[in-house]
Amino acid sequence: MTRAKGSLTRREFVGGVSTAFALGAGAASSGAHQAAATTGSFPKGFLWGAATAAHQVEGNNLNSDEWVLEHMKPTIFAEPSGDACDHYHRYPDDIALLAGLGFNTYRFSIEWARIEPEQGIFSRAELDHYRRMLAACHEHKLTPMVTFNHFTAPRWFAALGGWENPASVDLFARYAERAARHLGDLIGLATTFNEPNLPRLLGWLSFDISGGTGALLQQAARAVGSDRFGFFLFADAEKALASMIPAHERALAAMKSGPGKFPVGVSLAMADEQAAGPDSGRDEKRRSVYGAWLEAAGKSDFLGVQVYTRARVGKSKDLGPEPGVELTQMGYEFWPEALEAVLRYSATQVKVPMYVTENGISTEDDTRRVEYIRRAVAGVQSCLKAGLDVRGYIHWSLMDNYEWVFGYRPKFGLVSVDRETQARTPRPSARFLGEIARRNGL
Ligand code: BGC
Repeated sequence: MTRAKGSLTRREFVGGVSTAFALGAGAASSGAHQAAATTGSFPKGFLWGAATAAHQVEGNNLNSDEWVLEHMKPTIFAEPSGDACDHYHRYPDDIALLAGLGFNTYRFSIEWARIEPEQGIFSRAELDHYRRMLAACHEHKLTPMVTFNHFTAPRWFAALGGWENPASVDLFARYAERAARHLGDLIGLATTFNEPNLPRLLGWLSFDISGGTGALLQQAARAVGSDRFGFFLFADAEKALASMIPAHERALAAMKSGPGKFPVGVSLAMADEQAAGPDSGRDEKRRSVYGAWLEAAGKSDFLGVQVYTRARVGKSKDLGPEPGVELTQMGYEFWPEALEAVLRYSATQVKVPMYVTENGISTEDDTRRVEYIRRAVAGVQSCLKAGLDVRGYIHWSLMDNYEWVFGYRPKFGLVSVDRETQARTPRPSARFLGEIARRNGL
């Protein structure tokens, strides 16, 4: 097996990792750990996990595009991310906590803004940081699922126009190749992008999120001494799509060239799209928001499905929540059945295996999270009974974190985080889902 020149061996980094991972073939060599319990009703080896994203939990992502935007005056961000959950330093405890709760998978992202702080300059120390995170997962028998890009990018990349710049394809491919070469032998599964279809999806929302973004981006451009500032969440949907599809394909090819032999997919933002009225644009929405990306996922090793709620689709926009339906903190309808509906729809569009890579709810009332999980997981079970190839359920999120423009108010965590002391406290929902994971079934 090849490895990055000068990189540490598994033994140097992985220390006490189970020999099943360290030396095995097949599933083991791709970093997938077998589920400990097989007594439940889910298939053996089913992945049960929780997810985070670097910018939302690590803290002090100083070199990122998002950090610049958070610190503009004025800004549309509710508050800056600051220390976030200090996961950059606290990952050993967080990973141990996740494993102790009964999970067998951790989905997290690596941060491009740390790994390539200046264009073409790569940080060996930051790559080693992520190697240590991967090693910690294996020590705790967690399969690591790595997202190579979860929304944020280096500020120099933003100053070049971000994803609206056609050169972003080469830039991302080079970063992905470098990171995969350094980390690949420890990766269990990977996704290139998190929700690259989001820019088009945002165009269908019942409310407009673009207010103030133009002025903010101009201000940020001036701050970084450029005439442009491209940020994924506010990107022109068509230009971003034109770059991100080939960028996904190039990154996938780079990851496939080793080291390691792990499945590579892409995860999409999806909702249970329900036609509201006879002139509903539901099919047009599906074609526009999912079409090209489902095709790309179909040519990858798996599709990552990320679902929070349903959408009632009117003629050219979503209609928003139906009066009387319970809402979450984000203003979405409480609709755990959306997951099953999306899995069933996706299975008609792709032949590759599916993983639920995000599913969750923002609430201060953890009993609603437990109920949401119970019904969502029952939906996955029903898909499995119907013969769908679903291989994992990964909850969003492991812990309360920085919810982008909304700041720290939304509570998505299985584990609560004290913003002052950083103390972690697992909620009952963490134990509930952890027990499901341990039993490998409801
Ligand atoms: C994103 C996460 C986000 C979550 C909850 C997903 O769209 O991948 O970064 O925190 O939804 O809104």
